[in-house]
Amino acid sequence: MEPIRIPPQPVSPPVIEVRASARAAAERLAEDARHGLSGDFKELPPKYFYDERGSRLFEQITELAEYYPTRAERAILALHSDAIVAAADFPGELVELGSGSATKTRALLDAMRDAGCLDGYVPVDISEQISRETAAAIGAEYPGIAVHGVVCDFEHDLEDLPARGDRIIAFLGGTIGNFAPPERRAFLRRLAALMGDRDVLLLGTDLVKDADALELAYDDPGGVTAEFNKNVLRVLNRELGADFDLDAFEHVARFDIANQRIDIRLRSVRAQRVVLTGLDLAVDFEAGEEMRTELSCKFTEASLRRAYHEAGLELVELWTDPEGRFALSLARAS
Ligand code: SAH
Ligand code: AVI
Repeated sequence: MEPIRIPPQPVSPPVIEVRASARAAAERLAEDARHGLSGDFKELPPKYFYDERGSRLFEQITELAEYYPTRAERAILALHSDAIVAAADFPGELVELGSGSATKTRALLDAMRDAGCLDGYVPVDISEQISRETAAAIGAEYPGIAVHGVVCDFEHDLEDLPARGDRIIAFLGGTIGNFAPPERRAFLRRLAALMGDRDVLLLGTDLVKDADALELAYDDPGGVTAEFNKNVLRVLNRELGADFDLDAFEHVARFDIANQRIDIRLRSVRAQRVVLTGLDLAVDFEAGEEMRTELSCKFTEASLRRAYHEAGLELVELWTDPEGRFALSLARAS
C-alpha cells in the first residue's frame, strides 16, 4: 500500500538525553577492568575504546584503504535503501544503535524522507561528544523530523529507548560482531522481545572471506588500528590511574578460522607489572602474553540465519555489496 504523504511539520530542535548508564560507565569500567585483568587470560570489553579520541580513531579507520566494511556497507545502502524501506513497510522512525557519526545512515534517512514516511531519528551511542555532533548535524540536514539522541550503554538501556511502534532498528557497521556468541545471542533475544509487529531490525554483518584480506583490514600498515586498539590502555591510564606503557604493547589481529572471527589483542613485549592505583591492583604480564581487547565475528548467510533463529528472529531479506564482502539484512520477530 502506498504511504499517505504528509508535508513535513516544524518540530523542536534535536534533543540529547544522557542516561545514567552512560555516566555509570566509569564504575562499570572499574569492575570490568578488575575482572578482565585478574584471570589467567586477560580480556577487556571493546566498548571502552570509544572515548572522544577512540571515536575519532574509528572514523579514521573507516577511511583506510584496507578497511573495506564501511565502504561495502555504504555501497549496499546506496543501491538498496529504497528497497529496504519498502521491505520494512515504510516505518516512521529510525532508531540506530551505536550510531557514531551516522555517515552511512543518511542514505536510509533520504529513502525514508523520499517515501514520505520519515518522522523521527533516534541515534543511540555511548560516546557523548559524537552523539551530540550527530544529532545536531542530522537535525540541521533533515528539518521537520524529531531527532532524539540517547547517550547510553545500549546493553543496559535497550528496553528503555524512545519507541513509537513502527521502527527500523538499525545496527550497522558490523558492531553485532563485536559481541562474543553468548552475549550476541542474549542481545538479539532481547531485541526480538522488544520488537512489535511493525518493527524491523536492519543488521550489518561482515562476511567471512580470505584471511589475508581480513587481517590487513584489522592491521593496517599505517598503524591507525593499532592506535585504536591501544586507546583502551589510555582510557585505563586516565580513568583508573593505571601506568600502562603504550610502547610496551603491540597490536595483534589474527583471523581465527575455526570460530570465524578476528581476534584482536595487545601483546606485552616484555615481562612487566602494571599498577592501577584507582583499583588498588597490580597486574603482571609475561613477555609475549596477549590480552584480548576485541572480537570481530564474521558471518555467512547460513550462520546469520542460525543467529537469527536462535534469537527468535526471522530473516526477511538480505542484500550484499557487489563484491559480496558485507551483508545488510532485515529481520522481524518470529
Ligand atoms: N555505526 C557506525 C559506528 C560503528 S563503531 C558505523 O557503522 O560506522 C561502534 C559504535 O558503537 C561506536 O560509535 C561506539 O561508541 C558504539 N558503542 C559500542 N558499544 C556500545 C554500547 N555498549 N552502548 C552504546 N554504544 C556503543
Ligand atoms: C565497530 N566495529 C564493527 C569495528 C569492527 O570492524 O569490528 C571495530 C574495529 N576494530 C578494529 N577495526 C575496527
